[in-house]
Amino acid sequence: MKLNRKSSAHILALAAASALLLIAGCRQDMQDEPKMFPQRGTTMFADGRSVRPQVEHTVARGQLDQDQYFYTGLIDGKEQNMMPYPVTLEVLERGQERFNIYCTPCHSRVGNGDGMIVERGYKPAGNFHDPKRMGEPLSHYFFVITNGYGAMPDYSSEIKPVDRWAIAAYIRALQLSQDATMADVPAGVQVQNLKDIAEKDGLPASYAGPWPIAVDTDANALPKAGIYAGAPGEAAASSQSQRDKASETNAAAGKTAASH
Ligand code: HEC
Repeated sequence: MKLNRKSSAHILALAAASALLLIAGCRQDMQDEPKMFPQRGTTMFADGRSVRPQVEHTVARGQLDQDQYFYTGLIDGKEQNMMPYPVTLEVLERGQERFNIYCTPCHSRVGNGDGMIVERGYKPAGNFHDPKRMGEPLSHYFFVITNGYGAMPDYSSEIKPVDRWAIAAYIRALQLSQDATMADVPAGVQVQNLKDIAEKDGLPASYAGPWPIAVDTDANALPKAGIYAGAPGEAAASSQSQRDKASETNAAAGKTAASH
């Protein structure tokens, strides 16, 4: 078949137009890739989630978690009194930092269970200095952070296992700091009396006094609805002066621990 000039020009124009369309199509695809964005929904999966949960009974690379004690704090289902890695000053400092971020709101800086949230009506958090908790094996602290305990939520998604252990080690240091005797002081080191320090620095006598310990009663067994609905501090307003006193002594106690 022989094409005349006019119709071949037509075909050429048509080819050019479809080529342009094709190129535009490609460009569109490149610019707007059919990929999933984090936290954005999709119609592709029945549950609408673009971020897929891990397939059950599978182990992703780097998730083998072979060291059972490191990840669970248990050996044969029992808590143990040992660290899964050596404790250095660096580990304790990391533990102190993480403890002060995640635990003090409820347990207070000295770990007596009378943190700010407790003072505002939350169930008193465990006092790390009572005989029962002093006697707990070290991995108990790891286990509680990992799994929660009673009214305390777990912190497994916020705190990595390595840091949970660092916190556990720091809690031991905290316990020791409040329960040390003269026998623990290395030879040749002089210990100053806290009362003398307070007097010298012109601090109130309560600086060196004992801390108040939160008391568990039915009334504060659960967070009060008023705390969330009302103005901050409203729920505990009646015991305002008591709380003032408590935080004063707490601050003092925190200072004691920090100066060790
Ligand atoms: C939101 C407040 C809150 C925070 C934050 C919190 N706890 Fe607690 N914790 C509690 C309460 C409340 C209890 C007492 C639970 C009960 O008796 O129902 C408790 C109890 C405990 C106990 C005692 C368990 C026992 O054997 O009696 C340990 C150990 C503990 N917490 C460790 C921690 C550590 C470590 C952190 C920081 C990673 C932390 N908690 C953060 C509220 C908190």
